[in-house]
Amino acid sequence: MTWITACSVDDIDPEDVLRFDHGGRTYAIYRDLKGEFFATDGLCSHEQVHLCDGLVMGDQIECPKHNGRFNYKTGAAMRAPVCINLKTWPTRVSDDVVEIEVI
Ligand code: FES
Repeated sequence: MTWITACSVDDIDPEDVLRFDHGGRTYAIYRDLKGEFFATDGLCSHEQVHLCDGLVMGDQIECPKHNGRFNYKTGAAMRAPVCINLKTWPTRVSDDVVEIEVI
């Protein structure tokens, strides 16, 4: 596992999501209303749509294609048609830089 720089803290507004690509994989980075950061796989587990184009509502991300929802803090699938959880990734903030720990 390796910590890599994903973005600056200012790149994501509270209750928003940002796409981040690294090593042939796409991630989604989230900032909640308290200013904490979270990371999941960036593609919906239903039909591989980019979740960065979806809508963040509270602790959930709504997929833009069929409106399935995940809890982005746990990765749990919350609303059909999604039924496969998202993988989540550890995050940390250092000197206003958001890092995620990847394989
Ligand atoms: S592609 Fe995300 S809910 Fe269908």
